[in-house]
Amino acid sequence: MSKPKILVSRRWPEAVEKKLAETYDATFNEADRPMTKEEMRQALKDYDAFCPTVSDTVDASVFDVSDPRTRIIASYGVGFSHIDTDAAKKAGIVVTNTPEVLSECTADLAITLMLTAARRANEGERELRAGEWTGWRPTHMIGTKVSGGTFGVLGFGRIGQEAAKRAHHGFGMNVIYYDAYPVSPEKAATTKAEARDSIEAVLREADVVSLHMPGGKENYHLINAERLAMMKPNAILVNSARGEVVDANALAEALKKGTIAGAGLDVFEGEPTIPPALLETHAVMLPHLGSATQSTREAMGWRVMDNLEAFFKGTEPGDRVA
Ligand code: DGY
Repeated sequence: MSKPKILVSRRWPEAVEKKLAETYDATFNEADRPMTKEEMRQALKDYDAFCPTVSDTVDASVFDVSDPRTRIIASYGVGFSHIDTDAAKKAGIVVTNTPEVLSECTADLAITLMLTAARRANEGERELRAGEWTGWRPTHMIGTKVSGGTFGVLGFGRIGQEAAKRAHHGFGMNVIYYDAYPVSPEKAATTKAEARDSIEAVLREADVVSLHMPGGKENYHLINAERLAMMKPNAILVNSARGEVVDANALAEALKKGTIAGAGLDVFEGEPTIPPALLETHAVMLPHLGSATQSTREAMGWRVMDNLEAFFKGTEPGDRVA
């Protein structure tokens, strides 16, 4: 029997590519750039499986293909708001993601953003490299102490819980959270996390607000001008989730006016373009590095392979999301 034909939209860690190429009739997008809609439509006609990433917008127009050959879209990443899962279902195509394996690294990055923003490490480094540092003085580049403060988590799933662990056990922070879905008491117990009954309650109380909800239409601009105005003036906003969750112009305005103290952002609406207003602020900004460690990127690849293996064996893939 011939091997299933797989198209991988970007270059992956070498070890995973090697195994994929041994196991399947695999093609990698040598150009290593986001795929165009036309290329993705062609992929759905020609391949049994398609493996995109967050950089490929697999919207409804991509599924506008008569009689697609593709039966599974095995995405490389936990977030799947770049895929129109309703359109996939209609086309009879299974969709999977890669949860769990990147929770720790993404939480590590959320804490990196929190500390960098709170202690103004980005501004300090820029000043030093520009040769503008004139030496130690008591009033120089004063930041915010996070230790012992309140860490507010919006979206208390796996990554939110890992971030909470780091804030609580590492920095003695009290954890509060809001999640639209019920959270089991055991999940909150390890960080003594207390639930709040609304997003607004978390925003009003937290010194650091860390976002961990999915992107997509349902959470579009959830953090808008009105909600930013509820945050404390000393507060830091951290977004390692999805860019579209925050209204970037409203955030830039809040930072410029000083109604919040800082922001740490790893994700942007319309990335890799950065909303121009944010570039004029002191926000810490990173190029979507949440899962960017060798072991994590490999683990994400193995997880895609597990999903493909289950699917082609005729069993249910462990990480099916549609
Ligand atoms: C994810 O996994 O959703 C990251 O944002 C990119 O891999």
